[in-house]
Amino acid sequence: MSQIQVIKLNFKDKDFLKIKIIRKSIFADELGISESELFDKFDEFCDHFLIFDGKNVVGSVRFVLSGESLKLERMGILQEFRTKNYGRDCIVQLKEFYSALGYTQIFLDSIYSVRNFYKKCGFLEKGEIFQRVGIDHIRMSLTL
Ligand SMILES: CC(C)(COP(=O)(O)OP(=O)(O)OC[C@H]1O[C@@H](n2cnc3c(N)ncnc32)[C@H](O)[C@@H]1OP(=O)(O)O)[C@@H](O)C(=O)NCCC(=O)NCCS
Repeated sequence: MSQIQVIKLNFKDKDFLKIKIIRKSIFADELGISESELFDKFDEFCDHFLIFDGKNVVGSVRFVLSGESLKLERMGILQEFRTKNYGRDCIVQLKEFYSALGYTQIFLDSIYSVRNFYKKCGFLEKGEIFQRVGIDHIRMSLTL
């Protein structure tokens, strides 16, 4: 297990600027997604997390809460910090966090080419491939 800390914040925290920078770097500059798709109304009330390796902010993720379910979105680890288990360890920590709060399921829409990462975190594919922002996606879920 890597030594990462997952720090919860909300839209009004000044550190939300760091999430803006991470999303732009990963989803717009790297993946070519339009900047208009990076932020939406859910940002104002969902849970945001910064992922910190003890020295650097290495990524971020958000969870949109709906009933007993949670939707994981905008998961990203900055390129230079990938394949160090930071992504998986972040999900392990957040599974424990939300399970303790009584949530029973996490779902997400994975970029299709990334689905094996989520499988390694325990998610299962559900349904058919679909397109969003011009990229193939697939729904996945995990029971807590
Ligand atoms: C997907 C992402 C979050 C993975 O983060 P990471 O910290 O590099 O992943 P980890 O090091 O924790 O990897 C855990 C396991 O998943 C595998 N894995 C990581 N990225 C993968 C990918 N893109 N495709 C398939 N498997 C992947 C690793 O090889 C590792 O497997 P192992 O246990 O057999 O060694 C990161 O690559 C990323 O930010 N990508 C760009 C943004 C993106 O696509 N986000 C998802 C949007 S749905």
